[in-house]
Amino acid sequence: SNLKLWEGRFSKSTAQIFDLFNASIMTDIKLFEYDILGSVAHVKMLAKCNIIREDEAKLIIDSLYQILEDFKSGKIEFGISDEDVHMLIEKELIKRIGEVGKKVHTARSRNDQVALDERLFCREKNLYLQELIKTLINTITTLAEENIDVIMPGFTHLQKAQPILFSHYILAYAQMLKRDLLRLRHNYSMTNSSPLGSAALAGTTFEIDRFFVASELGFESVTENSVDTVSDRDFILEMLFSLAMIQMHLSRLAEDFIIFNTDEFKFIELDDSFCSGSSIMPQKKNPDALELIRGKTGRVYADLIGLLTVLKGLPLSYNKDLQEDKEFLFDSIETVEMSLIVINEILKTLKIDKENMVNSCKSGFINATDLADYLVTKGVPFRDAHFIVGNIVKYCIENGKTLEDLSLEEYKRFCEKIQEDVYQFIKIETCVNRRKSYGGTSLESVRKQIDNLKEFLNKL
Ligand code: ARG
Repeated sequence: SNLKLWEGRFSKSTAQIFDLFNASIMTDIKLFEYDILGSVAHVKMLAKCNIIREDEAKLIIDSLYQILEDFKSGKIEFGISDEDVHMLIEKELIKRIGEVGKKVHTARSRNDQVALDERLFCREKNLYLQELIKTLINTITTLAEENIDVIMPGFTHLQKAQPILFSHYILAYAQMLKRDLLRLRHNYSMTNSSPLGSAALAGTTFEIDRFFVASELGFESVTENSVDTVSDRDFILEMLFSLAMIQMHLSRLAEDFIIFNTDEFKFIELDDSFCSGSSIMPQKKNPDALELIRGKTGRVYADLIGLLTVLKGLPLSYNKDLQEDKEFLFDSIETVEMSLIVINEILKTLKIDKENMVNSCKSGFINATDLADYLVTKGVPFRDAHFIVGNIVKYCIENGKTLEDLSLEEYKRFCEKIQEDVYQFIKIETCVNRRKSYGGTSLESVRKQIDNLKEFLNKL
């Protein structure tokens, strides 16, 4: 194989199969721009600290920017023999400016360099993910506002439980996403320390200024321990955990919507643009996009568990195992970004069948708790009220009736205290709107929830 920048101590060239095995360039090429920006800051610092001359720094920096430009216009060729993105760029630099280019790696190692590139990458992706999440929260809020008073059955155990507002239901997902957003912001601050200057593992003999590099690259601080720094991938794991959590939330929404979109439920109708057909059954319109969001959750979890497993039992400090981190990270980022965009479009194009939602509340004794609450207002202790209503429900099932169907005379057989006002009390609208407790499903509470959510987004 061809010349390596590190081949001085080798007496023969590496095996071709090893080159293939060892190379990360096909993956870490994604870090190209961050690697350039990191090198620029590093070289500025080297000049400022009189480790290289100003004119040398200028030559290197100009060339690095030129390399970046050429990369962006597809003019940089690379392959397995380049090993990784760091070697590729250094090789390209030396090719272009000769001897001076060989100074770029002074007081630096690929170990702190790759940690830097990954932190820069995670910072940028973190901000982009935050934007995608904000967009999705806004879409959910709009959907809630447009359908604020639509009533649907709320479920526990996928059994009809109590009637709720559709707006309340869908806003539950906004709350999950709000936590996801806060979690990302926390991850950001954990990522926002500069590793550069840790060098291979022990720091460097040169009188460098790590704080200068950090401020050039917009880091809040520098890392404290060089051994830790070159072996630390906690910031990637935290990102992967946040991504797993986001994808899990999206997967639950996808599952809800797959069910609601069935012929049995018909609560919603997915737009044709996010469904696909069957090669044999002409009538089919399948919710593939949602199924993929649910399915891809598996790989996002796998990425998290994968990297946790790579790190488990790694001796300090840097080990080549760490090179494996990127595929997990890139895969999860790509998957979650796309899922966030897709689900946002699905929500924007969705049709809601208000009629079917509210009609579904007519069966399943969804107002039974309210009947029990009614008895409590008439002085019956709740546990007794629960038992009485249980008997009433049993009677209804046996006689094919709903709670609304029962005559006052029938009611009084179960409890003398039931009066004419019971019918108003057990109306579905009443059930919803009496749940005025903070965070509950009444129109009033949901409006408050929306206000709070908007205020949260505005204050970010
Ligand atoms: N490609 C390597 C990685 O992704 C860069 C660091 C290599 N360091 C080393 N000492 N071999 O981790």
